[in-house]
Amino acid sequence: MTLAPIAIVSAMHEELRALLPALGPARVARLGGREFHCGSVHGQAVVLVLSGIGKVAAATTAALLIHEFKARALVFTGVAGGLRRGVKVGDVVVAQQLLQHDMDASPLFPRFEVPLSGRSHFEADARLVDALAGAAQRCLDRADAIIGSDRRLAFGIDSAQLHQGLIVSGDQFVSSAAQSTALRTLLPDALAVEMEGAAVAQVCADFGARFAVIRTISDRADDSAHVDFKRFIEDVASAYTHAIIEDWLLHTPSF
Ligand code: ADE
Repeated sequence: MTLAPIAIVSAMHEELRALLPALGPARVARLGGREFHCGSVHGQAVVLVLSGIGKVAAATTAALLIHEFKARALVFTGVAGGLRRGVKVGDVVVAQQLLQHDMDASPLFPRFEVPLSGRSHFEADARLVDALAGAAQRCLDRADAIIGSDRRLAFGIDSAQLHQGLIVSGDQFVSSAAQSTALRTLLPDALAVEMEGAAVAQVCADFGARFAVIRTISDRADDSAHVDFKRFIEDVASAYTHAIIEDWLLHTPSF
């Protein structure tokens, strides 16, 4: 019997494009306007898919992966804006918990709480988090081999660090100092902000599925967040994601 696949989900085309060659010969299944690429990486069954951007796109993708493709674990990759002090462009964040920063049904429910679930924070799978953090650290240690020192220096990346903790998600590209300061004040533990992770977390909690979210910091969620965004994904984040996923699958044969 073939083992259920591990799902790797990207929000952006550039990242999926970087991961596809690792998959080898793949079958493509089309569902819900998405293309699910089913193959294997280092002997492990894998399904790769582009989710699209935002919480609804991510939630739809996660539900299809779990229900239709019987994915045994989901890993969401991509970029995020750094929020907490010390979370710099080029760093990598592995989420231990996720929260929707734009969820607000107050005064009916406490701010950030997902109505009727009784919770605002959703935990990622601890074993997956550990394994991905290990892979990310190994890749950061050889950043020059992965992205090249020219690119690293061009983006001002120096001694990139790995962080683990809270990632917050919302249907908003945070692109002003005022917005990011407001988020930091409301959610001082938040390391980074993106647009999909907490939606995946909520769907996975509903289905009891294992998941993790790993993000390369592309910007500081401030007034210059959009500058170089696409080029960063092409030149840095895609290469990191590819290297981290390959390293993780190689080092966790019994996953
Ligand atoms: N993904 C990458 N940077 C982001 C930002 N500043 N806001 C939301 N999502 C992001």
